[in-house]
Amino acid sequence: MNETKICRLLSSLSSSKENIEILCALDKALFNPSWNETQWQNEFDNPSVEIYIMQNSKDEPIGFLSASIVDKNIEIRKVGILPEFQRKGYASLLMNKVYELSKNYNAETIILEVNETNHPAVMFYQKNGFSVFHERRNYYANHQKAFCMQKNIA
Ligand SMILES: CC(C)(COP(=O)(O)OP(=O)(O)OC[C@H]1O[C@@H](n2cnc3c(N)ncnc32)[C@H](O)[C@@H]1OP(=O)(O)O)[C@@H](O)C(=O)NCCC(=O)NCCS
Repeated sequence: MNETKICRLLSSLSSSKENIEILCALDKALFNPSWNETQWQNEFDNPSVEIYIMQNSKDEPIGFLSASIVDKNIEIRKVGILPEFQRKGYASLLMNKVYELSKNYNAETIILEVNETNHPAVMFYQKNGFSVFHERRNYYANHQKAFCMQKNIA
């Protein structure tokens, strides 16, 4: 990885129109369906949610992560890195922010849900020490399963 990384932590104070637009654009480039402006605004308004935007050395947004902290659990709600920047370690850096959060909140587990057919994401989470603890059948379109994955950190 030869580019400088900047992770910006955004709180509810940072729910500016610009940040919402950045997140919508990244989300749209990565997910179908993606969240709209209202859904991202709701994300900012949720006091248990932390949102990170990742920028490259040219200050261009290249990825994001949203996580919620409830009791002793951190849930990764969404994470994505633009295709041209993938496999360079950027999502791993965002995951480090989640580990920092888990320390700050004395969290015991990190959990998430991922489509069984999303092999890059499943591989990414496995590389990060997550394992499947439950399968939700017919959760997505075309009867695809959701893998519920977790990592114990306590
Ligand atoms: C999943 C995702 C976030 C990974 O981001 P990334 O920045 O490419 O991940 P990293 O470079 O930090 O990868 C770390 C490790 O994860 C694994 N991994 C990541 N992408 C992989 C892929 N496409 N195939 C196999 N393994 C992969 C590898 O072990 C990799 O280490 P390596 O490159 O040294 O082999 C990215 O593929 C993405 O944005 N996908 C689209 C959005 C999405 O599906 N998000 C997850 C569901 S919420």
